[in-house]
Amino acid sequence: MEAQRAFCAENKRLLENRYGRSPKALVRAFGCAQNMDDGEKIKGMLAEMGCTFTESVEEADIALYNTCAIRENAEQKVFGILGQATHQKELRRDMLIALCGCMAQQKEVSDKLRRSFPGVDLVFGPHALYKLPQLLHETLLHAVPGQRKRVYDTEDIDGVIAEGIPTLREDKVRAGLPIMYGCNNFCTYCVVPLVRGRERSRRPEDVLQEARSLVEAGYKEITLLGQNVNSYGKNGEEGMDFPELLEAVANIPGDFWVRFMTSHPRDCTRKLIDTMARNPKICNSLHLPVQSGNDRVLKAMNRHYTREQYLEIVRYAKEKIPGLHFTSDIIVGFPGETREEFEETLSLIREVGYQSLFTFIFSPRPGTRAAQMDDPVPAAEKSKWFQELLAVQKECGMKLYDRMTGQTVKILCEGYGKEKGILSDQPVPAGKALLMGRTEEGMVIDFFGDPRLIGQFVPVTVIKSANFALAGEIR
Ligand code: 5AD
Ligand code: SF4
Repeated sequence: MEAQRAFCAENKRLLENRYGRSPKALVRAFGCAQNMDDGEKIKGMLAEMGCTFTESVEEADIALYNTCAIRENAEQKVFGILGQATHQKELRRDMLIALCGCMAQQKEVSDKLRRSFPGVDLVFGPHALYKLPQLLHETLLHAVPGQRKRVYDTEDIDGVIAEGIPTLREDKVRAGLPIMYGCNNFCTYCVVPLVRGRERSRRPEDVLQEARSLVEAGYKEITLLGQNVNSYGKNGEEGMDFPELLEAVANIPGDFWVRFMTSHPRDCTRKLIDTMARNPKICNSLHLPVQSGNDRVLKAMNRHYTREQYLEIVRYAKEKIPGLHFTSDIIVGFPGETREEFEETLSLIREVGYQSLFTFIFSPRPGTRAAQMDDPVPAAEKSKWFQELLAVQKECGMKLYDRMTGQTVKILCEGYGKEKGILSDQPVPAGKALLMGRTEEGMVIDFFGDPRLIGQFVPVTVIKSANFALAGEIR
């Protein structure tokens, strides 16, 4: 990181010469919470190089896209956006375009960029994120008309942990805190282990130090992040497993909430549930991706648990933590999934009663085992199943929302509410603003209040529930 800091200083000089002022950067991150966190690190490093930020590609001197490879449509979207950026570059030759993240790590993508997107100057994978200053330096040296050479760093390595990357956090209330990187699970549909490398955990002292500084800086919610947080410390060197780390974070003095994601059901232990149960700062919300409710499909997905084992954890957690809400990820139309097997997913959704779901139609990813499997069900049929799944979830999820009416709950006020929300038909009372917050279960709630409440815990009574939204009144 020392070397990278020196590159930052050098780039600052080069960028100022190139643009004759402090350069404007557009940073867009797609996909998971981990990618959003990486986006904040990219901004942190660019800020050290003297950049200011813009949301508009027309204004950007540097456009940087931190991409997601989990499904094909996410990739298509990025290629469309890259097309717009390269069009801008035709108008302003000194513009720089960079693509990083999970897409960049895939050979098929970097080949396509070389072939069809000559306007892209810099391409690097998730492993090379900490090296952005150095890579940008190389790009700047070569980004001279006539001598132009594109910079690629997409080496296939297991990955390292780089501590001390500057982070620019836009949100002043909630912060993500990565605790581990990579994944060893090799679910047969998933590209993540191929692009993000093997599991590696940060040292507990580094995680705790960062958590302490977030609390000191006034953050009220910390989300511990990892592709599979339950694998934290599995190789023993860290001296702490995930429940122990979670409890240590919760034990930091101060008024704040702790969340975490993602939790793989295979390693979701009773110890984790017991830890959640006894620590009021750990939110009553558990994201536990089930993917399918059928044992044959789960096996074909290489998930390492059965429907019954999953339900067993859910039952235990519901018993130990009254009021706990579950969320999950579901894949519809995994290769070979039959109608009967899909119906088992529907029955599982009814049985668990999720607050919300992230639902996906299977998308074949290059290099994964599932992409090689026979996939006889037509896309139109999968879409029908998908719609059915959404309807079942709507019915189950709404029950949890409706049940909230009349209850007084502690919420964290995160900011201003959306204009087209549940309270938009009501006039804003004098001296107040439309605010929004979230319950510890993760439900969004709108209410009128003093904007100075943003960033504070507030007791609110729920007065209305409609279409997965709540309205409340301050007590
Ligand atoms: N197709 C569809 N959904 C996928 N996911 C991961 N890979 C694929 C794929 N190839 C979903 C899983 C995972 C979530 C992050 O994305 O449900 O939990
Ligand atoms: Fe992908 Fe499975 Fe790892 Fe999650 S646990 S990142 S779904 S391989």
